[in-house]
Amino acid sequence: MIQKPRGTRDILPPESRLFQAVEAAAHRVFQALGAEEIRTPLFEHTELFVRSVGETTDIVHKEMYTFADRKGRSLTLRPEGTAGVARAFLENRLDQRPLPQRLYYIGPMFRYERMQRGRYREFRQIGLEIIGASTPLADAECIMALWEFFAALEFDNFTVHMNNLGDPEDRPKYAQLLRSYLMGSKDQLCSDCQRRLQENPLRVLDCKVPTCKEVTAAAPGMDTVASQASRAHVEEVVSLLTSLGIPLKWNPRLVRGLDYYVRTVFEVVSPELGENTVVCGGGRYDRLLSDLGGPEIPGVGFAVGEDRLIDSLPPAFAAKVTTEVRLYLIPLGNEPALFGLQLARDLIRQGVPVELEVGGRSLKAALKRADKRGFAKVVIFGESELARGVVLVKDLRRGTQQEVPVAELAKDWQREVEP
Ligand code: HAM
Repeated sequence: MIQKPRGTRDILPPESRLFQAVEAAAHRVFQALGAEEIRTPLFEHTELFVRSVGETTDIVHKEMYTFADRKGRSLTLRPEGTAGVARAFLENRLDQRPLPQRLYYIGPMFRYERMQRGRYREFRQIGLEIIGASTPLADAECIMALWEFFAALEFDNFTVHMNNLGDPEDRPKYAQLLRSYLMGSKDQLCSDCQRRLQENPLRVLDCKVPTCKEVTAAAPGMDTVASQASRAHVEEVVSLLTSLGIPLKWNPRLVRGLDYYVRTVFEVVSPELGENTVVCGGGRYDRLLSDLGGPEIPGVGFAVGEDRLIDSLPPAFAAKVTTEVRLYLIPLGNEPALFGLQLARDLIRQGVPVELEVGGRSLKAALKRADKRGFAKVVIFGESELARGVVLVKDLRRGTQQEVPVAELAKDWQREVEP
């Protein structure tokens, strides 16, 4: 039997409902803040990611799904969303529309990563980008939107880890400082970090290998050499978010795995999934669009790992979403079967979710199934009920039953779901 490729997932019911609920919350919250959805291709020219995410990052270095198409052009399955959004923004001249623009996306990303819990090779991200505003207020709005999205899903235990990555001009100074600090313990670093030490020492701070973490634990933070302007910027973001009551933790070792960031960077960690499992990452990227050949347009954004978020959903929220709330229609006999089909049609037209028993089960077998599936109410009708224009509604939770006129069924349901 053919199996799915390693690192991919089949999202099956009822889990698919959790994805729908999370995505519905994203649409609702982001649109309420004036964001609009953008959909970009699942594959792009490889060069886009090399130039934006950065040649020396792990993503570009070893995690991209890159292939030549039939004409020999190098294409890559998108490992993240920001580069494609920036490319689309420039290519479609969205900069000619009023700025800033708030754009969000939901969709699969691809990274060739080593498998572990919460880490997949095809995974989904929900991202928001605010393009065309350079103020600390824009960063704060972005994180506020993220927080409201989490609140809509009833999360109450997240913390935002933040750092200042300075401006690009500060980078060489910091790389130098860090390199000389780490040189002293070079032999304790993993082989990847020994290479990173030369190429891009910031990446060493991002390494998850315990011995490397030990070496970097007391390393100087970027903030020590960051420009005054970038420090003032990030301090203002922190102050705005603190006033909003969003829990923040300053983390000088937070460098993110992508090269386009400047100033504000942040990650959200779920206490359930542990320190190494980040549910969301983001930050400011003021040079990305100009690095891609466009005008100097600043941006700030984040992406939530949807699969990881769903793994840590509050149980009460998940239970609400997966509870079977629909009317189970059980026709008894041939004539009632056709009536059942019409009834199902009429009820879905009125917004009542139904499930028609199409398997020809006996009443006893149907009730057993209703119990197993967790249906709260079933609707039973045979020829005698139809002759009187009524159906029998059985409330399985309360253990009651009553005859309801067919015309009242939708209203009866509405009363139940919106008491
Ligand atoms: P990122 O930190 O690389 O940032 O990814 C964002 C989130 O995607 C992570 O925090 C994680 O939850 C999820 N994620 C990443 N890799 C995997 C994986 N292999 N399996 C499951 N989930 C994963 C970005 O991608 C940036 N584009 C975020 C951004 C938007 N920055 C500015 N705007």
